[in-house]
Amino acid sequence: MWRVNTDKGSYAIKQLAPVIDLKSERIITKYELSETIAYRFAQQGIPAVSAIKKSGKHLHIIENTGYLVYPWAEGYTLARNEISETHALKIAEMIAKLHNINMSGLSEVPHVDIHSNDGIVEAIDRAVSCKCPFAKMLKENQSFILSMYDSYLAAVPLLLEDTVVTHGDLDQLNVLWDKSGQPILIDWESVRKLNPTREIVRTSLSWSGMDTKDVSLQIYTHMLRTYLESGRMLNINHVDAALYSLVGSAVNWILYNIKLACTSDIQGEKDTATEEINTSLMSMKRLEVLIPDLVKISMQK
Ligand SMILES: Nc1ncnc2c1ncn2[C@@H]1O[C@H](COP(=O)(O)OP(=O)(O)OP(=O)(O)O)[C@@H](O)[C@H]1O
Ligand SMILES: [Mg+2]
Repeated sequence: MWRVNTDKGSYAIKQLAPVIDLKSERIITKYELSETIAYRFAQQGIPAVSAIKKSGKHLHIIENTGYLVYPWAEGYTLARNEISETHALKIAEMIAKLHNINMSGLSEVPHVDIHSNDGIVEAIDRAVSCKCPFAKMLKENQSFILSMYDSYLAAVPLLLEDTVVTHGDLDQLNVLWDKSGQPILIDWESVRKLNPTREIVRTSLSWSGMDTKDVSLQIYTHMLRTYLESGRMLNINHVDAALYSLVGSAVNWILYNIKLACTSDIQGEKDTATEEINTSLMSMKRLEVLIPDLVKISMQK
C-alpha cells in the first residue's frame, strides 16, 4: 500500500503481490467485479471505499505489476486491545445493512474449496518429506484434522442453501474508523455470495477475539443480538455449519502454507508459513472446545 499526495488529493495505491497471476482473465474479472460491487454498495449508503475507475478499468497493470488506486480514507484500524463492544456492535449493524441490501450482480454459485482426505494426508506427508519444522505436529494431529474436516464437509451443502452478496472479510484490518468513530469498509477483494449466518457468526467471533486467548462471549452474543435487532434472521441450522466453515478455511490455509514452506527458498517466508500453520492448528483445537457452547449461545437468541 502506498500513500500518494498530489495537488488534487491523497490516494491509497495498492500494489498487488507478485504471486497473483495477472494473465488470468478470471482473476482480472474478479478484481473488476469486486470494485464494481463495492461501488454499488457505496451508492446504497454503505461507507465502502472502492477503487477509482480509469479508462473503463479499476485494475491497472504496469510492467507486469497490478495496481488499484483508492481515494485516501482518513481513519485508522483498531489494534486488538482497542476493540470495544461499541465498535463490534457497529460492525454487526453494518453486516445486517449489507445483507438487507440483497445486492445482485453475482450469479454464480459460490466456489468452495474441497479437499479429499487423501489430499490432506498427501500434503502432510509432503511436509514430512520436506522436513518442515511443523511436520511432526501435523502428523500427530492428522486424525484430529481429518475428523474436524469431515464435520466441515457435512456443513458445506447447508451453507449453500442461502446466500447473499457481501463483503466477505470484515476483520479488524479491513475496517478504518473515522474521527467520529464510524466504520469505513475497505478491501472488497473477498466480495462474494456467502451464507449470511456464516458471515455474521464468523465476523462476530473475529471481533470477539477468537484469535486471542481471551475470546469475549459477551461481545459475540451481543453482536448476534444487534444483527437480529437490525431486521435480520439467524438460521439456527446454519450456525453449527457456519462455525465448522472456519475449519475449512483453516485447512485451506494449512495446505497453502505447507506448499509455501516446501517450495520457497526464502527463510522469512518459511518461518511465516510455520507460524501460520501453528496458529491454524491451535484455532482448530480451540474451535473443537468452543463450538458446542457457541451453538448453545446462538440458539438462545
Ligand atoms: N483507501 C484507503 N485509505 C487509507 N488507508 C487505506 C486505504 N485502503 C487501505 N488502507 C490501509 O492499508 C491497509 C491494507 O489495505 P487492504 O486491506 O486493502 O490490503 P490487503 O491486501 O488486505 O493488505 P494486507 O494483506 O496487508 O492487509 C489497511 O489496513 C489500511 O490501513
Ligand atoms: Mg485487507
